[in-house]
Amino acid sequence: MLLAIIAVVVSYLIGSLSFSILVAKWVKGIDIRQHGSGNAGATNTLRVLGKGPGILVFLLDIGKGVLAVWIGRWLADGYDWVPALCGLASIVGHNWPVWFRFKGGKGIATTVGVMASLSFLPALVAGVIAIAVIALTRYVSLGSLLFAALTPIAIGIIHYESPELAVSLVLCVFAFVRHRSNIIKLAQGTENKLGAKKGL
Ligand code: G3P
Repeated sequence: MLLAIIAVVVSYLIGSLSFSILVAKWVKGIDIRQHGSGNAGATNTLRVLGKGPGILVFLLDIGKGVLAVWIGRWLADGYDWVPALCGLASIVGHNWPVWFRFKGGKGIATTVGVMASLSFLPALVAGVIAIAVIALTRYVSLGSLLFAALTPIAIGIIHYESPELAVSLVLCVFAFVRHRSNIIKLAQGTENKLGAKKGL
């Protein structure tokens, strides 16, 4: 049990490594939360700093979700729920990072890493649909919300497992709560589109 608790705490601390904040500080000496949409995430890094930093942050944010699930598998201590809880903890860390005054991002890239590690095929199906919607509309937030909403549905249909389904439902709630301002802008037609650069 102690190992499982350690795994969840370590996952939260890893999730709290907000790579958009670190990369933006490193590349331009700025706080990404004061630029663009104000979100500490890959989309806003792309918007403010360009493709290279944006892709780097996206991959690192996915990677920390993958790492958390693997730590959970390694230190599961016989408890089935530990990998899923570690994945969840990494996203709690990303959204509310202890290292950055609890002001983090919206958690989608890390959710992609977590769900792809926990339940690959359902995440792939949700991901393909989300990418198609982003390509068609150029709204990353719409694709992000679709990914979050479709993952639990796909898990229910393709590969039902209770820890994965429960965590994907919690992550869906997180995604909608964290995208409140995006949802309002989408409804008003004022949401940022991919490619609309908002430099420094
Ligand atoms: O994952 C974040 C994305 O869905 C929206 O980011 O910066 O446009 O609010 P942003």
